[in-house]
Amino acid sequence: MEKKLINGEIWKDISGNTIHAHGGHMLFWQGNYYWYGENRTGNRYVSVYKSNDLVNWEYVRDVLTTNSRTMEHRVRTDLRLKTDDGGKINIERPKVIYNEKTGKFVMWMHMENGKNYNQAACAIAVANAPDEELTYLGAFNPCGYMSRDCTLFVDGSEAYFISASRDNADLHVYRLTEDYLNVDALVNRLWQGEYREAPAVVKHDGKYFMFSSFCTGWAPNQCKYATARSMEGRWSMLTKIGDETTYRTQPAFFLNVESTGDIYYVADRWNGKDYNDSRYVILPLKFDADNNPVLEYHEEVKIIV
Ligand code: GAL
Repeated sequence: MEKKLINGEIWKDISGNTIHAHGGHMLFWQGNYYWYGENRTGNRYVSVYKSNDLVNWEYVRDVLTTNSRTMEHRVRTDLRLKTDDGGKINIERPKVIYNEKTGKFVMWMHMENGKNYNQAACAIAVANAPDEELTYLGAFNPCGYMSRDCTLFVDGSEAYFISASRDNADLHVYRLTEDYLNVDALVNRLWQGEYREAPAVVKHDGKYFMFSSFCTGWAPNQCKYATARSMEGRWSMLTKIGDETTYRTQPAFFLNVESTGDIYYVADRWNGKDYNDSRYVILPLKFDADNNPVLEYHEEVKIIV
């Protein structure tokens, strides 16, 4: 089955509504891709869409809203999903992974108080199925650190949470506890003082690649990547990839197509003046003979599932 997506256009779900899944993530589960992302309309924080061909997306539900269920967690967290005056907090970059030991779908995200970016916290939420509303377990500072732009990466029996710390100057890598509901240890502090944001990790041919942007708010900038032989090992220095604005995108996540082994770079093309008009860009990620990543721009993307 071959389908096309036009990069930077408004993407609609199969009901004809604009897809709001910004700064998102995808999970493959029982033959379907679930696309989670920021939805800032109404009382929503995160919505999930479902597709088996990566082109026709069905809106499933809002998985996190101002009214979502909250639950006390063994870690002391801030459980407020509204500001004191009834407004919205700020939830960004939701990422979801499945925990085989507990059977839970676990979301990690970036949380701010809705007024400014000073809380710099991560937050977690859990569900029993990929299309279920999440229970919010609250926000906290991992190991006491600031935590903003973030991602998750499952590596065999371990999972990692990666987030920008120290006012975005350093990128921290935390190994998660077995249930994925807390950080177990801070295992790496990468590129200190280089202000990397929007991290996304992919593994190819035994090597780990971490892409990240520079820190310029909604404005796009030069993406760079680094490599490592293990998540907890030494990471290389940063190498430029794509053009100076990364084709007007900022990384959201890497998509691994299960059936073909193809990898796609999935990114946001933010509209800083009108957030809800932000778009998506999907580009095939290729590797040269030396296993170096190559990212080229295409207006249209054919995805084979
Ligand atoms: C970007 C970040 C986005 C959002 C934005 C706000 O750098 O990647 O997720 O936080 O700043 O200005």
